[in-house]
Amino acid sequence: MSFTPYDRPVRAAFIGLGRIYDLNVRAYLDNPDVEVVALVDQLDARRDERGADWPEAKTFASAAELAASGLEVDAVEVLLPTPLHDEAVVELLGYGWHVNLQKPMCNDLDGARRMVEAAAANDRLLRVMENYVFYEPLLKLKEVVESGEIGSVSGYHMKMVASGRGGWDVPANSFEWQFRQMQEGRGILVFDDGWHKMATAHWLFGPVKEVRAWLGGTEVVPGITVDAPATIVWEHENGVRGVWDITLATDMYLRSDYYTNDERWEVTGRAGYARVNRCTGRGIQQPSLEVYLDGVMRSYHALDDDWASSFRDSGLHWLRYLRTGEGPMLWSGPEAADILRFAVAAYTSSAAGGIGVSPASLG
Ligand SMILES: NC(=O)c1ccc[n+]([C@@H]2O[C@H](COP(=O)([O-])OP(=O)(O)OC[C@H]3O[C@@H](n4cnc5c(N)ncnc54)[C@H](O)[C@@H]3O)[C@@H](O)[C@H]2O)c1
Repeated sequence: MSFTPYDRPVRAAFIGLGRIYDLNVRAYLDNPDVEVVALVDQLDARRDERGADWPEAKTFASAAELAASGLEVDAVEVLLPTPLHDEAVVELLGYGWHVNLQKPMCNDLDGARRMVEAAAANDRLLRVMENYVFYEPLLKLKEVVESGEIGSVSGYHMKMVASGRGGWDVPANSFEWQFRQMQEGRGILVFDDGWHKMATAHWLFGPVKEVRAWLGGTEVVPGITVDAPATIVWEHENGVRGVWDITLATDMYLRSDYYTNDERWEVTGRAGYARVNRCTGRGIQQPSLEVYLDGVMRSYHALDDDWASSFRDSGLHWLRYLRTGEGPMLWSGPEAADILRFAVAAYTSSAAGGIGVSPASLG
């Protein structure tokens, strides 16, 4: 595509002003690379509430209304419910706007294909944001692993515990579409949040050759089944294997400023290991990264381990990209489709009794 960076602040609109706007907005506040010109949400209350952040911005109930208004927009920050991503992104690219989309990209590979084709057809950029690859403890983990100090990588482990108590409030209407999505086979743990774990796996060790999965479910209230316990294992093309376990701890209190998710990444090398102790929540009250080698544990005490900073830095990266063209985009549409392929391979494997599935074979 023929993208030319902007030599002036980017004119941006937020499309969707719900829960996650609170973190995505951090990249836009006091940022000379951008001018927020419009806010779009179907709910009056959301537009009123978020409008206070941007008194100069115009507000609209739909993207179609914004497009019809004649207001000039260069790029949109898309924070819509995931089931809408596919159709909405095709529409927004069609208006001639570059798109920065929240993860997960969409629910199936046909949708991903349509989105990538729409970006090419309209000669616009499509980015699917992944804030975890901007989380400083994970960046440092990658640096330690790639430095070779823990030896060549023998394998790694990711852990995720969804706890039922603590954290910020999630409005009921944010859960409504998640429940619908769960009933359609895209669970809140394996798919919605799990997208980040698959993205970090891809980012750390490259393309995935084979996935095996055993996905369970737990009915938490009548009619609502959450997708845990679940265990997913895979092998990267470079031969490194990963294991990821997802557990539900319904009654556990977890201290968190955001969602109550207790997470771990632990890479074992031939000589030592490196572990990120937490991310979204504040489960383990130790330094967020520890590196063990030859009987000595090194702890990182001064990393920016506030999960919200990863949203800020992901958004700053995108807005800088629009101003300079300096990449990588993290992630482009086709790269995000690879993460989706990883997830679909896990579902395909589990449905077939845990057999090995190659993401590349899914087309
Ligand atoms: N990166 C992360 O860690 C992270 C965390 C949470 C959510 N997300 C993702 O962000 C996206 C939004 O999640 P959320 O929790 O903010 O959801 P939400 O339900 O809180 O917000 C969605 C907003 O979109 C509005 N909306 C719905 N349909 C619309 C339409 N057709 N036109 C205009 N507005 C419309 C709703 O009124 C609501 O305000 C999802 O894709 C979700 O998976 C990512």
